[in-house]
Amino acid sequence: MARNVQEGRVSGGGRAAPDGRVNCACRFVALPCTFGMGIRGVLASSSLGRPHGFLCVTRRTDGFRMEKRHLLYTSALVIGAFLVGVLVSGRDAGSGKPAADLSASASIVAEFQGVTSIASGQRGVGVRPQHPGLYKVYPDVERISLPEPDHAGFPFEEVLRQRRSARQYGEEALSLRQVSQLLFAAQGITGEFRGISLRTAPSAGALYPIEVYMIAHDVKGLEPGVYHYAPDKHALEKLVSGDLRGMISDIGLTQESLKSAGAVLVFSAIFDRTRSKYGDRGLRFVYLEAGHVSQNVLLQSTSLGLNAVPIGAFFDDELNALLGLDGVAEAALLILAIGAPTE
Ligand SMILES: Cc1cc2nc3c(=O)[nH]c(=O)nc-3n(C[C@H](O)[C@H](O)[C@H](O)COP(=O)(O)O)c2cc1C
Repeated sequence: MARNVQEGRVSGGGRAAPDGRVNCACRFVALPCTFGMGIRGVLASSSLGRPHGFLCVTRRTDGFRMEKRHLLYTSALVIGAFLVGVLVSGRDAGSGKPAADLSASASIVAEFQGVTSIASGQRGVGVRPQHPGLYKVYPDVERISLPEPDHAGFPFEEVLRQRRSARQYGEEALSLRQVSQLLFAAQGITGEFRGISLRTAPSAGALYPIEVYMIAHDVKGLEPGVYHYAPDKHALEKLVSGDLRGMISDIGLTQESLKSAGAVLVFSAIFDRTRSKYGDRGLRFVYLEAGHVSQNVLLQSTSLGLNAVPIGAFFDDELNALLGLDGVAEAALLILAIGAPTE
C-alpha cells in the first residue's frame, strides 16, 4: 500500500546544505554580530563607556570636539574590536575565508581519505558486511510497467555539446515513454555476465549500490507521488501518493526547479552492497557511482529535448524521511529535476 502524504512545509532545520549556502548566510550574520559584541564587550569594561568618553560623543550638547586622548582610545577600540570580531568568527582577515571551517573540512577529508585508502602492501579490505541483495523488494505495492525504452536521439557528441543545467520548465507534462527512457538511462539492464545483470551505468564489482526514486509531479498516466524504480522489472513501484511539489522544494532549500519540474529523481545508496566486497574503500565508489548514474540521466534528458538540473542542496533528514530511508544503511545522495523545455 502506498503511504499518503499531505502537502506540508518542511521545517527549516536540518543540517547545513552541501554547497554551504545555509552556512554562508549564518557566517555573514555572524561576523557583524561578533564585531558588535566585541565593541560592546570592550566598552563595558572600559572607562570610555562613561559619559566623558567615546560613548557620549554624540550626546554632547556642547559640540563634537574630542580630546586627542579620546581619539586615540577610540581608534584603538575600533581596531581592537574588529580583530576580536574576526578572531571570534573564525575568519582569516587576509583571505576572507572561514579559517576554522577550512581546518575542519581538511580533517574530514583526511579522515575520509584515511579510512577509505588502500595502503601499499595492504592485504584484505577489513570488515566486510553481508551483501544486502541486488534488488530492493517492496511487497504489496502497486507496480506500473514502463514502456520499452526505444528512443533514438541525435549523435552522442551533439548531446555532449548541448547538455546544460536548466532550472526552468515548460507547461507540458512528461510522458511515460520519456520517464521510461530516463529511468532506463539511470539503471536499466543492458547485458549479463556470469549470471549477473549489467546496467547502463558502470558499478564497482557489479554490486549496484544506487537506488532510484521518482517524485512525479506531472507525468501523463501517473498519479502524483513517490515511486521506486525496479530495474529488474523495468517498472515503477508506488510508495507515496500526493502532490509533493511544495514539500520537495522546501526540502531542496526552496529551489523553484523542484516545484516546477515534471518529475524529480532522487538517487540513494545502499552502502553495504559495495562494502560487502571492498570494505570501507567501497564508500568512495558509491559516491562516484551516483555521479555516473546522474550523468547518464542528464545526457539522456538532453537527447530527449528535456530540461534538467542536478541538485545537491537539500535537507538530508527530511528527504530520507520522505523516501522511507534511515539515512545510514541507505541515504539519499543527489536529486535531479527534469521537465519539458520552455517555449
Ligand atoms: C553535485 C552537484 C550539485 C549541484 N547542486 C545544484 C543545486 O543545488 N542547485 C542548482 O541550481 N544547481 C546545482 N548544480 C548544477 C551546477 O550549478 C551546474 O552544473 C554548474 O553551474 C555548471 O553548469 P552546467 O551544468 O550548465 O554546465 C549541481 C551540480 C552538481 C554536479
